[in-house]
Amino acid sequence: MKICRTIKEVKKEISRWKAAGETIGLVPTMGWLHEGHLSLIRNAKKGSDKVVVSIFVNPMQFGPGEDYDSYPRDLDRDAKLCKKKGVDLIFAPDVEEMYPEGFCSYVDMTALTGELCGKTRPIHFRGVQTVVNKLFNIVTPDNAYFGEKDAQQLAVIKRMVKDLNMNVKIMPCPIIREEDGLAKSSRNSYLSPEERRLAPIIHKALDMGRDMIKNGERDSGKVIKAISDMILSVGITRIDYVSIVDALSLKPVDRIEKDILCACAVYMGDSARLIDNFSLEI
Ligand code: PAJ
Repeated sequence: MKICRTIKEVKKEISRWKAAGETIGLVPTMGWLHEGHLSLIRNAKKGSDKVVVSIFVNPMQFGPGEDYDSYPRDLDRDAKLCKKKGVDLIFAPDVEEMYPEGFCSYVDMTALTGELCGKTRPIHFRGVQTVVNKLFNIVTPDNAYFGEKDAQQLAVIKRMVKDLNMNVKIMPCPIIREEDGLAKSSRNSYLSPEERRLAPIIHKALDMGRDMIKNGERDSGKVIKAISDMILSVGITRIDYVSIVDALSLKPVDRIEKDILCACAVYMGDSARLIDNFSLEI
């Protein structure tokens, strides 16, 4: 397994593989890898000849006051996990390599990013789109693997690829959870033991909401209230949002009549903001 710190090195390796007719799968990450990331890598191994994992904590997608500085980083640890999983190349650039002086071009969109996480993180998706676009241009993958845990991110990336005619197939991968249902996340490491004990209520509440809809409830407001109440009932005090949106437009719906995404973000303690979701075909 190769670890490349520069774009030049990656491009050299990629052109060698392409010349040999090999397909390339890219798994973009910010590192501190866990089972969620590793499941993306497993899918990439199945679907592509060569697997590239990018590890880059992208400053452009963090707003002021967010956890860019404290975001967990350990390349040695991540490299060991990648090697074990048969990854062919890690691309781990530093910030200057990705955003050299004078950098001023961005990728942005006018829809899909106004609700859900985009509301409290207004510059987040512009940063995600820009870095993912750069990664696609550097690695030129045939397939790129993204988790359904970040449902809005997945929708944004799919839209960007379609709108801008990018030659890459987006492969969605299911949410990987802890045994008690908590969605795996690099940010779970911020949780105190007490917060960690409470956190699975997020998944339990969403499950309950899903059951309400499956049993015929069509009033979004009622489902949202029931989910929020259940989360608040254990002593969690700060919910960023619980929303039910149209699965395609990501616009809030009052009545659940078409496919929906139900998503939430919850603050725990000072530094953790946890997200989770489910999609439902109606
Ligand atoms: P990061 O949070 O490291 O996540 C990398 C990928 O892993 C994303 O596609 C995310 O959806 C997926 N993932 C994380 N937890 C998961 C889980 N429990 N189950 C399934 N998949 C999971 O998302 C980012 O990084 C960044 O925004 C990035 C796309 C790399 C751009 O900087």
